[in-house]
Amino acid sequence: MELGAIAKLNSNLPPFLLPLLFLLFSLSMATDTLTRSQPIRDGQTLVSARGIFELGFFSPGGSTHRYLGIWYKHIPVQTVVWVANRASPLPDRTGLLRVGPAGELLLTNGSNHPIWSTDPVPFSRSVGQLLDSGNFVLRDAADTLLVAVAWQSFHCPTDTWLPGMRFSSRFPLGLTSWKSSADATFGDYTVRLDENGLPQLILWGRSSPVYRTGPWNGLRLSGTPEMKSYKSLFTYAFVSNENESYYEHELNDPSIITRLVLEQTGELQRFIWVNETQSWRVYWSAPKDQCDMYGRCGPFGVCNSTSKAVCKCVEGFKRRSAGNWTAGCARRTGLSCGNRDGFRRVTGLKLPDTSTAIVNRSMELEECRRVCLANCSCVAYTAADISGGVTGCVYWVDDLMDLREFPSGGQDVYVRLAASELDEDDDDDPKLHVPADKNKLIIIIVATICFSLFFLQLCLYILWKKKLQEKAKIEKSESLSLLGFGANAAHSSMSIDDGNSSADLSRLSLGAIAVATDNFSEENKLGEGGFGQVYKGKLPNGQEVAIKRLSDSSGQGLEEFKNEVMLIARLQHMNLVRLLGFCSQGEEKMLIYEYMPNKSLDSILFDPTDGTTLDWSKRKRIIDGIAQGLLYLHKYSRLKVIHRDLKASNILLDNELNPKISDFGIARIFDGNQEQRKTKRVVGTYGYMPPEYAIWGHFSEKTDVFGYGVLLIEIISGKKISCFQGIKGSLNLLQYAWELWDDGRALELADPLLGNSYCKEELLRCVHVGLSCVQKNAPDRPTMSTVVSQLGGSNVSLPSPSQPAFQACDSQVSGDLDCQRRGNGSSNEVTITMIGGR
Ligand SMILES: *[C@@H]1O[C@H](CO)[C@@H](O)[C@H](O)[C@H]1NC(C)=O
Ligand SMILES: *[C@@H]1O[C@H](CO)[C@@H](O)[C@H](O)[C@H]1NC(C)=O
Ligand SMILES: *[C@@H]1O[C@H](CO)[C@@H](O)[C@H](O)[C@H]1NC(C)=O
Ligand SMILES: *[C@@H]1O[C@H](CO)[C@@H](O)[C@H](O)[C@H]1NC(C)=O
Ligand SMILES: *[C@@H]1O[C@H](CO)[C@@H](O)[C@H](O)[C@H]1NC(C)=O
Ligand SMILES: *[C@@H]1O[C@H](CO)[C@@H](O)[C@H](O)[C@H]1NC(C)=O
Ligand SMILES: *[C@@H]1O[C@H](CO)[C@@H](O)[C@H](O)[C@H]1NC(C)=O
Repeated sequence: MELGAIAKLNSNLPPFLLPLLFLLFSLSMATDTLTRSQPIRDGQTLVSARGIFELGFFSPGGSTHRYLGIWYKHIPVQTVVWVANRASPLPDRTGLLRVGPAGELLLTNGSNHPIWSTDPVPFSRSVGQLLDSGNFVLRDAADTLLVAVAWQSFHCPTDTWLPGMRFSSRFPLGLTSWKSSADATFGDYTVRLDENGLPQLILWGRSSPVYRTGPWNGLRLSGTPEMKSYKSLFTYAFVSNENESYYEHELNDPSIITRLVLEQTGELQRFIWVNETQSWRVYWSAPKDQCDMYGRCGPFGVCNSTSKAVCKCVEGFKRRSAGNWTAGCARRTGLSCGNRDGFRRVTGLKLPDTSTAIVNRSMELEECRRVCLANCSCVAYTAADISGGVTGCVYWVDDLMDLREFPSGGQDVYVRLAASELDEDDDDDPKLHVPADKNKLIIIIVATICFSLFFLQLCLYILWKKKLQEKAKIEKSESLSLLGFGANAAHSSMSIDDGNSSADLSRLSLGAIAVATDNFSEENKLGEGGFGQVYKGKLPNGQEVAIKRLSDSSGQGLEEFKNEVMLIARLQHMNLVRLLGFCSQGEEKMLIYEYMPNKSLDSILFDPTDGTTLDWSKRKRIIDGIAQGLLYLHKYSRLKVIHRDLKASNILLDNELNPKISDFGIARIFDGNQEQRKTKRVVGTYGYMPPEYAIWGHFSEKTDVFGYGVLLIEIISGKKISCFQGIKGSLNLLQYAWELWDDGRALELADPLLGNSYCKEELLRCVHVGLSCVQKNAPDRPTMSTVVSQLGGSNVSLPSPSQPAFQACDSQVSGDLDCQRRGNGSSNEVTITMIGGR
């Protein structure tokens, strides 16, 4: 319905209808089109033809500043997808949007001062129109088919990518996050198409890359193998020609409402609107783990998020420096250059950073190999396109950066190595096997084997000697302990001075502990934790104790050990497990705790038979007890302690089912005035880690608050976060809980084993507190002292929680195993250590 069309229509109509038509026309025009004669003031809006999007002035959550923006008209939570005047918000409601004197879109303030505008246009009569795609276009009034659009909001995206938008080399600005949810000005993160080498999307922090999607490989973006399963939802396209490269997607089902947003936290999240629950659901997000962080393992380092070590070198490479992966890996053997080198196929990878790679799309893989081999600086090559066989050529002439492995959907990269580093089955290209090299190789192999054998014998001899010595030592201490081992005999004691008070710890000998645990017999084994085995022991004075024997491979080194001993010795609270003593002798490191006959919370809570012993009043007491213990750690102990690994298996229960927080192996002490710290060494358990910690390594007391919130939801629901099999399409337990709560059905979350034993108000209050603890933004989460008062006071009014943090689905990898063991009481989520130096 445009002027041109109307004019044509008019010629066939009786004249008396004209005024009426014009009236109708101007009414309909006021809805989706902005003309010179009809500007928009603050308070007025444009609505797209089918009523999907609305354009007008708004103030983001809590702010008084006014922005011109576009949002979904029918979605009750105001969801802004585009903002015009990001750089200069209006302080008041005097804004006016109109078609300016040069045909441009012009936003002015109360004194007619320009706040924002587009470039002048060549049309005589230009109009702005809001389309149902969410695109706001500036076009000639007669150009109803949008043939020559002068300007469009889709070319100047803000933080949201809508279907139909392009990441293009022609609009290099990409997406920029908001500063905060109340401030639409430019935040710290941007996502842009990087055109260099093989084009890819790169998420930038202030000055350095944070995350790469990987380049388009003909099927999908190389770093997001999960795109395979999104085929039914979207049609993706990547186009590269002499004029532009761009990446775009269209929805297969146009009734789906979805958007991709760059959040102010630096996460890219795709949301889908769920009509039934009237809420946005996170469908995909990135970066989702450590390995998505750019260059996590340095040059030639390969990241694997499910492996305990996280980083490793490409085969044929060795670490450049211990303790810090920033430097990555270097070649074990230098290249000889020319035909003497070969290639090793490394499979299942996200392609390394291609921004410095050299690309030729018309070359075949075989030719690519030859070109790479012929150029001394070429370090690796692969195919540029894997959509129909393998075609095209990408090769790298400097370090391979940002490699990660995928369990499925990864690609092959051929890494150049010196001939001596290659196995028989590498390099199956016959032309490259020079006989002289083969002989040399055999000599090297034989020499290596001989030397290894000799070395092995030497080691065995040394070990044998050492064992003899140790045995003598143990016998000596055993004889000592037999003389009269009690609370104060046959062991020295260590005093830890803590200003006003000092804690006395018993130091026991290895022999004494061997006696107490019946030489670490199987019957005395209580379980196996993340850091080693736990045994039950009985001291000669009759006291029962739990002994944690730290395994060598546990990753808990001497440092964690000292940390745990020093820390717990200074902490005394009825909701913290008490350390009675320790043992450190040679390689053996052990901690001696008070014995908890009821084992850990998870062994009772998630057991379908034992779970019934925990009625609501017991659960409430556990909930309160853990809160008190945490409050003490955060606030009332003289040190501020962040536990960092709060989970059901770390909560022990005493005779009366009082909860005791245990496992301080990775806890950290904070200075009184420190708010937040950052670590390269993220340790914790998937599911219980808040996003800012799992992804960025930021931790604060809010890290524990998050873990507490997860625990709370677990205790109420009797469901384990890592075992949660999507119920009614919810992605995880937190999302499920939130959707029930948001829907007013929070009571359905209650564990069926609870029966009717609970008080509704109390349970609802706990769900509410739990959800506010797992909110995505750390500052939104309450402190433990707030939590304690919220749990206690029945007349404290609680603020509504926002949607919980979305957890990457990776946890299912470790989760499934645990879930099969459900019921036998020994299940234990693995504490994941990601060591990267500090
Ligand atoms: C409009 O903006 C100009 C420049 O920032 C400023 O000097 C003027 O006071 C503003 N007028 C109103 C009414 O806010
Ligand atoms: C590139 O731009 C030129 C000039 O605008 C145009 O003639 C040509 O068709 C474009 N090429 C492609 C592949 O779009
Ligand atoms: C969305 O849900 C409402 C009721 O909640 C229903 O009336 C409407 O038809 C639904 N819309 C779609 C597109 O399914
Ligand atoms: C990552 O490491 C784990 C544990 O070492 C291993 O089982 C898995 O296969 C590795 N993943 C890939 C993709 O290689
Ligand atoms: C790409 O490879 C083809 C085939 O080998 C060759 O003819 C062409 O010159 C190469 N292009 C570039 C830019 O190197
Ligand atoms: C190897 O490739 C690099 C990058 O294309 C180029 O600068 C260099 O000249 C090449 N070297 C040889 C010997 O071809
Ligand atoms: C790692 O080492 C580099 C220099 O070798 C240093 O600049 C960087 O700060 C270190 N990173 C960490 C986390 O220690």
